[in-house]
Amino acid sequence: MSRLIVISNRVSAPKAKSAAGAQGGLAVALTAALRENRGIWFGWSGNECEKFEGKLDMERHDGVTTATIDLERQDIDEYYNGYANRTLWPLFHYRIDLAEYERTFGSGYERVNEIFAETVAPLIEPDDLIWVHDYHMLPLGKMLRDRGVKNRIGFFLHIPWPPTRLFVSLPYHERLVRTLLEYDVIGFQTNEWLESFLHYVEKELGGTVDEDGWIEFEGRRCCAKAFPIGIDFDEFTEAAEGETAAEANRQLSRSTLGKKVIIGVDRLDYSKGVEERFQGYERFLENNPEQADHVVLLQIAPPSRGEVHTYQEIRERLETLAGHINGAHADVDWVPIRYVNQGYPRPALAGFYRASRIALITPLRDGMNLVAKEYVAAQDPDDPGVLILSRFAGAAQQLTEALLINPYSTDEISEAISQALAMPREERIRRWESNYANVRDEDVIWWRKNFVAALKGE
Ligand code: G6P
Repeated sequence: MSRLIVISNRVSAPKAKSAAGAQGGLAVALTAALRENRGIWFGWSGNECEKFEGKLDMERHDGVTTATIDLERQDIDEYYNGYANRTLWPLFHYRIDLAEYERTFGSGYERVNEIFAETVAPLIEPDDLIWVHDYHMLPLGKMLRDRGVKNRIGFFLHIPWPPTRLFVSLPYHERLVRTLLEYDVIGFQTNEWLESFLHYVEKELGGTVDEDGWIEFEGRRCCAKAFPIGIDFDEFTEAAEGETAAEANRQLSRSTLGKKVIIGVDRLDYSKGVEERFQGYERFLENNPEQADHVVLLQIAPPSRGEVHTYQEIRERLETLAGHINGAHADVDWVPIRYVNQGYPRPALAGFYRASRIALITPLRDGMNLVAKEYVAAQDPDDPGVLILSRFAGAAQQLTEALLINPYSTDEISEAISQALAMPREERIRRWESNYANVRDEDVIWWRKNFVAALKGE
């Protein structure tokens, strides 16, 4: 059986049993695949070193080998903070107003990808399947090919692919896509992102695409397809039944004294539409003063990418906005928004989800959004809550019985909150059952098996 080599910017080593639950859902699923296939997970350690001299840190935990390297300060600034998070992330989330096109970022990105290729290539054996993840590593496949790697190599993009008219604002866009076409399989979260990519390949590069997603370009063939990612359904529902979840549920219910909780959970990122969400919620409070102190919005937003100025700015803006809304609407015994800048373990989140009548998930653009799926998975089947979801999240393609809204419209957010609060139990159950079947059936194991089968050419 061939081994699986997973390559991604972040590597999440499996923890000892006592810390189970600390890994994210994707990490759990990839770990399971790696364990079955005697695999290796390679990437950046997240740490900085004085001078990189090829040192590879190999560790074995619970049947999985991780191989990580440290990066120098300049590499972190130009590759991770720079090209990945100041150029590609905003551009791929349709925010060309925020995208920064600095030459040094582009060269740092290529340099670090060369370092990854140089370090991982000697670990690869002829039968290994190689699976590269996300926007940090777009050109890695080509760099491995340059080093003579002939294995099957797949790439999965976790974030959106932007429309051609936006994408062409990236200097050297053609060079970047040419490198991508060196993979055997290119996976996207949804058909929408896939179509944008294929449009670029046909219209800008002059490649040909057949109806099954096979691309032909300059004598090479590769396959592009949508593989929507799911949650680790069994692991998450088990966590939702556990004592940590029950205690978190009690804690939130006790402290909100019978009010209906509206929950949002997001990494603190401008793509998540949290400002627009707060404004929509304020519109709801203004339009429905009689309901105001029957609800509370709990927004959990752990800080992220704090070295990047756009993230510092969104953090400041949200603090100001939450303070403003609370100042304008709070009473002695009620505060409309609880804004929390810390992360919680997944079992606790499961308890918070179950205690919440509404999930308000309003990204302006999102590759998938697994919080929406976790919220659905955590509900009480006899009394489920209502999911309000941005139509611009990849998850909206599957969770079609959510209340789908335009996150830019304050009125639509406000009206969806009213509709969700008034929704009869039968309708809540009907909508939830449909979404739940999707979350259960198209889970992360299904995703991983589909991708690996395509990678094997099955
Ligand atoms: C998104 C990206 C991931 C990334 C995660 C957290 O989900 O698709 O590749 O790991 O955000 O961001 P960070 O910059 O902290 O790794």
